[in-house]
Amino acid sequence: MADTRVVPGLAGKTAVVTGGRSGIGRACVELLEASGATVHIVDMQGADPISVTDRPALDALAAKLGPTVDVLVNAAGILPPNSFIDGITVEDARRSYEVNVIGTLNTVQAFGEQLKAARGAIVNIASQAALVSLPAQGAYTATKGAVAALTRSIAVDWAEHGVRANSVCPGFTITAMTEEFLKNEVFVNAAKKRMPLNRLLEASEIAAAIVFLASPLASGITGVTLPVDAGWTAGEPALPW
Ligand SMILES: NC(=O)c1ccc[n+]([C@@H]2O[C@H](COP(=O)([O-])OP(=O)(O)OC[C@H]3O[C@@H](n4cnc5c(N)ncnc54)[C@H](O)[C@@H]3O)[C@@H](O)[C@H]2O)c1
Repeated sequence: MADTRVVPGLAGKTAVVTGGRSGIGRACVELLEASGATVHIVDMQGADPISVTDRPALDALAAKLGPTVDVLVNAAGILPPNSFIDGITVEDARRSYEVNVIGTLNTVQAFGEQLKAARGAIVNIASQAALVSLPAQGAYTATKGAVAALTRSIAVDWAEHGVRANSVCPGFTITAMTEEFLKNEVFVNAAKKRMPLNRLLEASEIAAAIVFLASPLASGITGVTLPVDAGWTAGEPALPW
């Protein structure tokens, strides 16, 4: 039986995945490798920890790779503690912006020449929070709105180089990031009720959309912000007419 996890057009390609040691990033690494790509991971975890905030380390990695990078997936991200607007600390806001937004810009710039040489594809992970606000997550929400906006700018600026850039907006996905609040049954039931598909998402479902956008199957798509959210942003499913 054919391996259904293979996305066509990626065999022999070179990919860089940030946050590739856990959750959505790790699911992307698995799918890209199953599709025949060679994947380089940028993560704080693992034998060769690199932070996306460390531009010199990213430049050093770029110098070690070949002349082309076909795919860049930016899945590294952090979620600051929940806080309503009045209580957001500047430290939390700065730190999330530094990792989620500047970290994305850093990798795009560090691997930029190689992505242009390959006429490659960038997929940045935003969030459903980029599209619909969630309570007490103002600091995170702002960074994810910025990721979606930055992605559109990359799409416009680098179209002349044949580089495509898209963002994916996951809904509540079962990963280390969400582990703590997904232990709360009351929260999970409320969240499910809010989703037309009435369920949480698996990291592999987010990776499928990311790797599709990174592949030649999506050759005509650039600058989009694609929700993979079990319908969260489609609307309110539970109105009692
Ligand atoms: N899980 C969800 O429900 C959900 C929903 C919407 C968006 N997202 C986004 O998806 C992306 C992946 O999240 P996840 O749920 O897989 O989380 P995760 O915590 O499982 O994985 C995040 C990975 O990023 C790495 N990382 C964190 N800071 C880093 C840094 N400075 N440099 C390099 N690596 C760093 C971590 O070590 C980890 O391996 C994040 O951008 C997150 O904001 C997740």
